[in-house]
Amino acid sequence: MPETMEKVEQKIPEIVVLNSGHKMPVVGLGCAAHPLPPLEQLVSTFIDAMEIGYRHFDTAACYGTEEALGRAVAKALEIGLIKSRDELFITSKLWCTDADHDLVLPALKQTLGKLGLEYLDLYLVHWPVRVKHGAEKFNFAKDEILPFDIHGTWQAMEECTKLGLTKSIGLSNFTREKICKLLEIATIPPAVNQVEMNVGWQQRKLVPFAKERGIRICAWSPLASYGGLWGNNAVMENPVIKDIAASKSKSVAQVALRWIYQQGASFVVKSFNKERMKQNLQIFDWELTKEEMDQILQIPQRRGFAGEVFVHPTGPYKSVEELWDGDI
Ligand SMILES: NC(=O)c1ccc[n+]([C@@H]2O[C@H](COP(=O)([O-])OP(=O)(O)OC[C@H]3O[C@@H](n4cnc5c(N)ncnc54)[C@H](OP(=O)(O)O)[C@@H]3O)[C@@H](O)[C@H]2O)c1
Repeated sequence: MPETMEKVEQKIPEIVVLNSGHKMPVVGLGCAAHPLPPLEQLVSTFIDAMEIGYRHFDTAACYGTEEALGRAVAKALEIGLIKSRDELFITSKLWCTDADHDLVLPALKQTLGKLGLEYLDLYLVHWPVRVKHGAEKFNFAKDEILPFDIHGTWQAMEECTKLGLTKSIGLSNFTREKICKLLEIATIPPAVNQVEMNVGWQQRKLVPFAKERGIRICAWSPLASYGGLWGNNAVMENPVIKDIAASKSKSVAQVALRWIYQQGASFVVKSFNKERMKQNLQIFDWELTKEEMDQILQIPQRRGFAGEVFVHPTGPYKSVEELWDGDI
């Protein structure tokens, strides 16, 4: 094995075993951004990430990055950066316009086509929301939001695993109540629930609930999407996190990410900058003390993305409280 390859392998971050029996690296690279860089730039960013040690990539049908990620995987195989596709953990997500029993399989096939892959490692129901098929991705009309058929959608997700098109299936943005309903009918339990989670929205009710049921929580916007379209400064400019970071000679981002890891959760963090990508992996050889964890517990809590776009007085969710079952 060439020396460079050895170095890369040593840097591959920690792995957890999901309830499906499959392994998932704790840290994933977030592949959502707005505005998106041009395709070729995205491909080289994803290759950079693999060189740095990322093996878990988080994309979605609605991000517009599946094709670039697929090209990066093909290139990484071609140049020998990875020996086989199995070395990667690729997540994608079912968008709301396909959240219907008969649309799940075609949507997954389309995702696989864009990625140029034969299977995903993890396929998530992106939101507990169904929008009329064919409606605009984000700019749908409020009357195009339809009742969400959790039963039919999940049955089709299970079918996708049975067909070998995805190793694991899971959820995103599901509350405890919605997970309970799902567990009543599921024959394959969700392996993961990917949710907004960071020091400013700690998911204090959902994390212990998911742990008890063997569902892995994966945090999205672990840095509150600092500087991004849907972001805020609740993490990166938080005085408590800044003080802890200064006292430990770590970056604010590292303290925020380490906190998630110490909650027993995974995270997908987006950076398209090589130095910050490296920094975000360097959280495993030090820890936050009990005192520091207690200080972080005092941070005021607020959900960053309330999901108003999915709420309408005549729709299935009439308020954000209904969407989140009161957990806001
Ligand atoms: N399931 C869902 O509904 C859902 C929703 C939103 C996001 N996600 C997933 O979660 C991923 C991550 O969330 P996110 O993209 O919203 O935000 P995030 O990872 O919390 O933050 C990303 C922002 O932080 C900056 N950043 C990254 N590392 C940094 C560091 N070490 N120091 C300073 N700034 C840093 C990035 O800029 P640079 O790129 O310039 O470093 C970017 O502007 C997404 O990419 C997507 O894959 C899922």
